[in-house]
This record gives sequence, structure tokens and C-alpha cells, in this order.
Amino acid sequence: MLKIGVLISGGGTNLQSIIDNCENGKINGEVVCVVSNRSGAYGLERARKHNIPAYTVRKKDFESVSSFENAILEIFEKHNASLAVMAGFMTVLSPGFIRSFNGRIINIHPSLIPSFCGMGYYGLKVHEAVLNAGVKITGATVHFVDEGCDTGPIILQKAVEVLKNDTPETLQQRVMEEAEWLILPQAIQMISEGVI
Ligand code: GRF
Repeated sequence: MLKIGVLISGGGTNLQSIIDNCENGKINGEVVCVVSNRSGAYGLERARKHNIPAYTVRKKDFESVSSFENAILEIFEKHNASLAVMAGFMTVLSPGFIRSFNGRIINIHPSLIPSFCGMGYYGLKVHEAVLNAGVKITGATVHFVDEGCDTGPIILQKAVEVLKNDTPETLQQRVMEEAEWLILPQAIQMISEGVI
């Protein structure tokens, strides 16, 4: 059974899709801990409703980035998490932190990488850029996290049509519903099966 540690910063709808798919058996795994870098993130409440240990680890509460990251690592080690999932996690992690997972850390990004990704492309900003560019197709990407920003090997992608009256908010919601909440659990199950 794959033990999954999830990193969040906000609403946790992607976390919810992982929890739901573990509980309905589509993922042969369990979420063993949830860590948020922001207190009050609703994703923490989602975890608690499913009796999953939920922690707030804020960078500003630590003397250094490494002590902040070590606090997260200690939680993952305490719960024997063997896969780290960044699900709406809005903090850049150091190369040392990434290396400590030996490639077993994945991220969900709300665009079709390599479009609309990299520094400055997160959350609604991604969808604003998509609309400003006038592209007709966008989507989401699950990828392994390497030491770059949204640059690791791509695992799964799913395309979503951009509608002419879309706003960043309506587009974000559809990309989550039609892409993120489907491919993130699928990617995790592929990892649990050893397919990738
Ligand atoms: C999602 O669009 C995700 O792709 C991005 O952050 C947004 C919020 O995610 N990284 P969640 O509802 O907190 O899972």
C-alpha cells in the first residue's frame, strides 16, 4: 500500500480527489499526512474530516529555509510517506529537499507544460495568461519534480477546451474538474503499480 504525503497551500480540491480515490479503491494507497505552509488552508480541514494527520509548517516560523524543509521531511518520515505530492503547494522547495525524495515527488500544474509554466505561473495567473494568449486548448500536467520550476519529466497530461466567454475563474474550475482531479489520482495509481 503506497503511503502518500501531500503538500498543500489552499483549498485542497486536488487533495480531496486523492483522498476520495484512495477510499474508493482506484488508488492502492493511503494519504498518511498532509502538510500546509499556510495556516487555515481549507485542505487541512479536508484532511481532518478523514482522520488524516494534518500539519501547518510555515516558513516564517523557522530561522532558515533548511530548518523549514527539515520540519516537513520529519513529518513525512514520521508517517513513512514514500511518495510526496505537491497539490496546490505554493512554495519553491530547495534542490536539497527535492533530492532527498530521490525522484519520488510529483506536482500538478494547471497548464499543458511547457506552455504557461515556470516562475510566476501559478494558480489563477496561469489561466489569465492562457486567456491573454488566446489559445483554444489548455489543460493540466502531472510531472515529477526536479530541481527546476515545472521542468521535471511529464507523467500525464489532459487537454481542456478554452471557451470564448471563459474568465480565469471559470477556466480554472473546468481545468480542475475535467483534468486535474482525474490525472493526479491516475498518476499516483500508476506509481503505486510500479508502471512508472
Ligand atoms: C489548482 O488549480 C492547482 O493546479 C494549482 O492550485 C490550484 C488550487 O488547487 N496548483 P487545490 O484546490 O488547493 O488543490
